[in-house]
Amino acid sequence: MNAPSREETVVRRHSGFRAAAVAAVACAALLAGCERPPMESIQRGFRGDGQVQIVNPRLYEAEFAKLQVPPSQPAAEDGEPRASAAFKNVQVLGDLSVAQFTRVMLSMASWVAPDQGCPYCHKAGDDFSADSLYTKVVARRMLQMTRNINGAWKDHVSTTGVTCYTCHRGQPVPSYVWFKDRSSEESGHYAGWRNQQNAPATTVGLASLPLDPFSVFLKDSGEIRVEAPVPLPSDHHATIQHTEWTYGLMMHFSKALGVNCTYCHNTQQFASWQMSSPARTTAWYGIRMVRHLNGDYLVPLAEKLPAERMGPMGDGPKVNCLTCHQGVYKPLYGVSMLKDYPELAAEHEQPAVAPAAEAAPAAEPETSALPARVLFAVGKKQLSTDGAQLIEAVAKQLKEHPDLHVDVSGFADKTGNPAANLELAKQRAFAVRDALKAAGADVGRIVLKKPEFSVGGTSDDARRVDISEAH
Ligand code: HEC
Ligand code: HEC
Ligand code: HEC
Ligand code: HEC
Repeated sequence: MNAPSREETVVRRHSGFRAAAVAAVACAALLAGCERPPMESIQRGFRGDGQVQIVNPRLYEAEFAKLQVPPSQPAAEDGEPRASAAFKNVQVLGDLSVAQFTRVMLSMASWVAPDQGCPYCHKAGDDFSADSLYTKVVARRMLQMTRNINGAWKDHVSTTGVTCYTCHRGQPVPSYVWFKDRSSEESGHYAGWRNQQNAPATTVGLASLPLDPFSVFLKDSGEIRVEAPVPLPSDHHATIQHTEWTYGLMMHFSKALGVNCTYCHNTQQFASWQMSSPARTTAWYGIRMVRHLNGDYLVPLAEKLPAERMGPMGDGPKVNCLTCHQGVYKPLYGVSMLKDYPELAAEHEQPAVAPAAEAAPAAEPETSALPARVLFAVGKKQLSTDGAQLIEAVAKQLKEHPDLHVDVSGFADKTGNPAANLELAKQRAFAVRDALKAAGADVGRIVLKKPEFSVGGTSDDARRVDISEAH
């Protein structure tokens, strides 16, 4: 650093310049943290709307050069015998030829356990068919998961797809997994519940946001909404905490993909899908895919893992966007390893459960809303909440069954003025008919009966309108 020392001498001679010189040094120090121009900007939305991605091509080149996608094993021949016939305990890869099967074993070892090799999953001295190590049991489920990602989630992974390497990168445990955080349960602290905040966490880009937006959005299916669909809503659920979780998740998306918010959103209107880039739709599928991977594969698999794999709250490792993306908008910069590994592609996917066992849920027995009895308060023709619910159900049934006709009959008791009571019974029947109509029922199939005096029963029953199936 020659420049500052020269400046120092200048400063000593002309103390008036001191402030300017200090500023210059400060600027130089600040700029040291910046990237050297020129940067490139890639337009991702309509002109002038700010949907621009700023990239430094030199950094990208350097990162890409560092990336070492392992070379693929030479392709193996398809043909007989099948692995299911040649081996004893093959539950997933049985449809492969023996040559393909062996190729997958070799590749799996290099992607997941390059230092340990076959003994990582096959205990030395045991037969290869034994399931004595948990790693083999987990790997079998991982094979199903990988095929499922490549088959059922093309809306996200396209034909680029994934292999074990996408997540594992040569390690038995992927670098990026998440657990429930201890502070999410913390309470009774003298300073109160921190609400997972003020502990700058890398999960949310070091912002002071709740550090676990994953449990609610990537394991459970919490709705990722901040904006209400209508002005001044009365039942909007986006509380402050929900909003903070949402922003926390968005920080994770940005960090995991190495992009900023405008990669997916137009910041004029975060919620608007019309103004968003297509990448936001891909991300939408990604959210659903991650929930599925956690719910169907990783959470149940945790049972098989040894205690030292568990998080501080005793839950197992789970995936988020970073697990595959690792800071890049397309994992491995879009290199498709799957293209050389048809063995892991969807064509081979087997249902996780045999179809017979997965019988469709028995159809719910149809319950009829008829006959329905709508009760009224003394002297009133207004419907109660219960009455309104009964009518909703009847209207629904009328809509679902176009042949159904109903009779609507008002009843009155003889106490007081009988004529006035009959008139009230008629008005109540009208009220019921109007409510059915308002609920979408076809009035042509509703027959109003003449009001009658009720016989027997309690006086409460007397103030009623009956709806019954007309024959
Ligand atoms: C990451 C774990 C893992 C590694 C590493 C691994 N395997 Fe396997 N191996 C499995 C799984 C899982 C199965 C069962 C596949 C299935 O059910 O479809 C299996 C099954 C086998 C079988 C069939 C045994 C039988 O009779 O059922 C053979 C043979 C085999 N592996 C050989 C190897 C060889 C050789 C290596 C080293 C190059 C190797 N494996 C590395 C997980 C692994
Ligand atoms: C979507 C990401 C993802 C993909 C793809 C994936 N895995 Fe995993 N794998 C994980 C996560 C997360 C864990 C849990 C880490 C742990 O055990 O602590 C895991 C754990 C494992 C383990 C247990 C490791 C241990 O030491 O506890 C094995 C073995 C394994 N995977 C094998 C495979 C194989 C083989 C494939 C490819 C057929 C594969 N995985 C594909 C994410 C993935
Ligand atoms: C990789 C794409 C992607 C990036 C980057 C991203 N988002 Fe999002 N964002 C989404 C998706 C997808 C949804 C909707 C999720 C859903 O419907 O399940 C969403 C929803 C939102 C919402 C809720 C909108 C509503 O309907 O109320 C807000 C607010 C938001 N994002 C803000 C941000 C901010 C701020 C950033 C930058 C820190 C950001 N997003 C970065 C994809 C992204
Ligand atoms: C199982 C691995 C995996 C996980 C987990 C994953 N992705 Fe992806 N994602 C991919 C692959 C592979 C592609 C590349 C698809 C292609 O080549 O078009 C991709 C592409 C994308 C793209 C499109 C990039 C572009 O510009 O075309 C977005 C956006 C994206 N992912 C967001 C997400 C978000 C957000 C999450 C977390 C909710 C997520 N991904 C989780 C594997 C994954």
